[in-house]
This record gives sequence, C-alpha cells and structure tokens, in this order.
Amino acid sequence: MFRIDFSNIIEKELNQKHIDLSKNAVHRLIEKRKSGVIGFMDVSGSAINTKRIKELSTWVKDNADDFVVLGIGGSSLGGKTIVSALTNKFSKTGIKVHFVDNVDPDYFSELLESINLKRTVFNVISKSGSTAETMSQFLVIYKLLCDKLGKVEATARIILTTDPEKGALRPLEKSMGFKALDVPQNIGGRFSALSDVGLLPSAVAGVDIDELLKGASETATYSSNDDITKNEILKYSLIKHIHYLKGYNISVMMPYSTKLFDFSAWYVQLWAESLGKNGKGQTPIPATGATDQHSQLQLFMEGPKDKFITFLGITSPKNEVKLPEFEIPVEAFSYLCGHTMKELIKAEMLSTQKALYENKVPSVRIDLQKIDAYNIGSLFMFFEVATALTGELMNINAFDQPGVELSKKYTYQMMGRKGY
Ligand code: PA5
Repeated sequence: MFRIDFSNIIEKELNQKHIDLSKNAVHRLIEKRKSGVIGFMDVSGSAINTKRIKELSTWVKDNADDFVVLGIGGSSLGGKTIVSALTNKFSKTGIKVHFVDNVDPDYFSELLESINLKRTVFNVISKSGSTAETMSQFLVIYKLLCDKLGKVEATARIILTTDPEKGALRPLEKSMGFKALDVPQNIGGRFSALSDVGLLPSAVAGVDIDELLKGASETATYSSNDDITKNEILKYSLIKHIHYLKGYNISVMMPYSTKLFDFSAWYVQLWAESLGKNGKGQTPIPATGATDQHSQLQLFMEGPKDKFITFLGITSPKNEVKLPEFEIPVEAFSYLCGHTMKELIKAEMLSTQKALYENKVPSVRIDLQKIDAYNIGSLFMFFEVATALTGELMNINAFDQPGVELSKKYTYQMMGRKGY
C-alpha cells in the first residue's frame, strides 16, 4: 500500500486533546458509514455491480474506437485520473478514452472532428442530470448521432450514469431506452471515482477494476481504526489539521510522477469543494515533481510560510531508464552517467523536502509502492477518507457544496431557464 514519513513536520507535539479529537472524528465517520449517510467506503462485495460494468465495457470495446466521457467536476476527474495513471497515453493501439469536462466550443469541435461517430460510444455522467455543461454536451451529441445514424443507433451509443432514482436523466433510461449505470444516492460526485462513475471509463481503458477496488477496500478497512498509532491516514489528517490551525492555509499536493499529474487536479477538487466552507478551509495547490521545482518551488521556499506540502513518491516505478555510462568531458553533467532516472527523481524529491524543511516549510511524504491498479485504488481511498476525517476535525460537512449554487442560478437566469 503506502508508507508515510512524518519527520519533516513543524508542529510535532500531539497532546491528549488532539488524540481525543482524532478518535471522535473516526467514530463520527464510522457512524455516518453505518447509517448509510455516506457510501464511498463501501467498495467490496455486492456494493458495486462489477459484472455489469465489465459486460458494458466489453460491449464498448467491441463497438468503438473512441469512448467519450461527458461530465464535469466529480463526474469526470476520478475516471480521468485513474485512466491517465494506469494507461499509456502514447499507445497507438486500443480504444481511446477522452474526458470532455467543459463547454469550450473550440475544444469540443476539435474532438468531434477527430472521431468517427459510427465507432464512438458516449458516457454521459451526471448525478443530478441538470448540470448545464454536461447536458448541453449531451444535447449536441444526441442530435448529431440521431442525424447521422438514426434514433435507434443514437440511443444505443449513449450510456447514462446517473442517480438510481432521482434526477433529470434517469427518466430517459426508461422512456427512451438508454443503457444506464448508477451513481449511488449516498455518494457525492467528488467521492464517486470508485463507483460506476469512474469504473466504467477505467474498465474500457483496460484497467483491472477488481484490483482497484481491492486496494480501496483494504485501505477503507485500515482507515477505520481510531488509534492514531495504527492509522496513518488519521495521523496525516490530524497533523495537517494542526498545521492549518497554526496558519498553514495552503495545501500543496506534489506527486513525483507525471502520470499522477491528474491526481493533483482530482485532489484539488476533493479538498476545495469538501472543506472550503463557513469561512474555513485550506487552499489546495496542484504541483508535480520534479517539474515544479523549476516553477513554483521558489515561492514554496521563500514566499509566505503558509504552505503544507504533501510529497508523493513512487518506490518502484514499473520502468527503469538508465543514464548511459560513457566518457563525456563536461563536469556539469558527467556525474549523472551510470545513474538511473529512478535514482535522480528520488534524490530530487528527498532533497527538495529537506531544503524546504530547513527553510521551515512543513511536509509529509507518502511513498506509494508502485503505480498499479491496487495502489491507485488505495491512494484514492486514502485521500477520500483523509478529506472526510478532516471535515470531522474541522466540524464541517464535507459532503455538500452550497457555495456553488449561486453562480449556477445566475447561469440559469442568463440562459433563460424558467423560474430563475
Ligand atoms: O463533487 C461534486 O458533487 C460536484 O463536483 C459534481 O460532481 C459536479 O458538480 C457535477 O455534478 P453532476 O454529476 O450532478 O452533473
């Protein structure tokens, strides 16, 4: 799974009050899980219909060269992150999976120009079924498919993923015969990566979803321990919270892996939308190591002392790239000869962490064994639980998002929706 290094934090003292606070946080989370208020930790057994997802993904792969996910926010970021972490984006074979999470007319048109509608399947993901961005994409695609392929084929080429009962999309399954998957009622968008929402795109892309769920399930069990010495997710959440209370208002997520670039974006949404409430909240910042050592690091090092950094290292990358051993008369880089990229990226991560600590910037380092389905499942569950626990520590409801409603209402008004 993962190992965590806590040796570079600034606020080191944990007193009884902190321990009690953390125990209560776990108990409240367990209570919410037991009573069914939250469902994101239930990823094993019959909780998820993996058989149906696999059947659908096989049908998609037999009938398409492109699979386009139409969704935004939590309905897109989880699947996008899993697919980019676990597949080869440069591969010239296999089905291509695209995530269109905007209503940018240029981007949308370019995608449409590049795909063959006869060989494309669309997955419209929206729990509410009323998100303006996703629904406008759906309207365009359905009309286009109807015009080009006829109604029957158009309906066959669209899979809906939505609330099992409520919401504006579900009736279409029944009245028009679309295929449909569920976003369980007790799982909010940003916690839905390991539900049908993220699992169908992942399965289509060739990800082993059983392993993904196994990693997540074992981590969910591990995270339910209220003893901070046996639950490092709890310890991570508490330590970060204590730093927040001391003025570390910014949370930087910095994986040393380009393949986890989207993971930072997923984390940003999860942390911001769950915990930015009631005048409280840490601002999440995405970063990638070593790339951002040549970009944001200057600010992290010498800017305001308000940042808490989470480093994410990969212990055993799948591939190794050796730097060739030959005589080159340039001292400035000849020392690299004979080393490997794995050694270099690790040295850069540890050096950056050490330099930041010496400059009084706190950080925690999570070492993930490798980037595979099991460990990515575990990583997702780690941060979903850490976010939920932090909500409990802050006394904030991590599962709603009242702050996004007002701008939606103004958009409805500008676009002429009745009643707004
Ligand atoms: O995390 C959330 O709840 C949000 O980011 C939603 O996922 C996002 O607003 C999209 O909502 P919906 O799935 O209803 O279209």
